[in-house]
Amino acid sequence: METKILAIDDNSISLAVKLINDGELVGMPTETVYGLGASGLNPDAVKKIFTAKGRPSDNPLIAHVHKDYDITNLVHITQNYVYDLIKEFMPGPLTLVLNSKGVVCSEAVCGGDTLAVRMPSHAGCQKFLKAVNLPIVAPSANLSKHTSPTTAKYVYDDLNGKIPLILDGGKCSGGIESTVLDVTTKTPRILRAGLITKEMIESVVGRCEYASHSEGDKVRSPGVKYAHYQPRCETALYEFNDLDSAIFRYEKEVAKNKTPYIMCPTFVAENFKGKNLLLLGETELEIAFNLYDKLLEGEKKADIIIAIAMPSETGVYAGIMNRLRKSCG
Ligand code: TXA
Ligand code: MG
Repeated sequence: METKILAIDDNSISLAVKLINDGELVGMPTETVYGLGASGLNPDAVKKIFTAKGRPSDNPLIAHVHKDYDITNLVHITQNYVYDLIKEFMPGPLTLVLNSKGVVCSEAVCGGDTLAVRMPSHAGCQKFLKAVNLPIVAPSANLSKHTSPTTAKYVYDDLNGKIPLILDGGKCSGGIESTVLDVTTKTPRILRAGLITKEMIESVVGRCEYASHSEGDKVRSPGVKYAHYQPRCETALYEFNDLDSAIFRYEKEVAKNKTPYIMCPTFVAENFKGKNLLLLGETELEIAFNLYDKLLEGEKKADIIIAIAMPSETGVYAGIMNRLRKSCG
């Protein structure tokens, strides 16, 4: 199958809507990373997502809807604080896990009784979602285990020949995936850290905790147990306060005739003068924006990416460290 990349306009959106209604897959931009969308009402289309990505069959998908869509068509809201979160953060990079009404097919939620819902803020994505007016289930548009794509070209690199269309909405402004928040309980629980931080949620709800992923048998967010975000080269991760060890490793790789690159926040770059660098930026938002891009750039030119950890795990750094541990840890 030929894979087209088309800039978002009325024509490409009409084509995307037609493909979705015909049970096909469409690559689409969001403000976080690109998604691989299908109609959430069409079990055969949803199965194509799992096949195209090589995704484990027990990892549920997020349903994406436009900003005027009434999510109570799809889910039950049982906690009052959910309305405050919707008002504050949606549309935006927050995904809410709620009890499903069963409208979105069970293939998309892997037979579970909850559904993750998200309203992307990306203008082109909103236009597409409005035109299609269906819940579009979409994982990140990469092959399973690989780094998530932040441009249409990166989607093409992974899925060329497997899908008919990628809507090109430019480079994603966020750079890491949405925060996944379980809001079925009295205290909201973060299943996956992201751009909407624990601190931001606490400022609205007054309380928020990280789900512990070791609490017995029931894994709340199946995605967290899989290998993920990995570039196709060797990687290593060093602590922020142990730059000497990173430099030692770099020299060791050079001595083996390898090409190492150090991937780090720009504010520590002066410690690595004269070395190959993948610079992530100065602020936590810049670092999130550049992270996957630098991993994908790195896999093309490095034998090994030597990543430096963030200086803390607060704010957006929590989400960045979650991705860094999985991609480079
Ligand atoms: O920013 C994002 O969220 C991107 C863009 C495309 O929207 N999507 C994304 O999808 O990252 P995916 O499939 O790569 O990751 C979805 C995560 C997985 O960790 C999955 O286990 C979790 O959300 N998830 C989905 N549905 C869930 C549910 N019903 N209960 C708990 N976790 C769920
Ligand atoms: Mg993913």
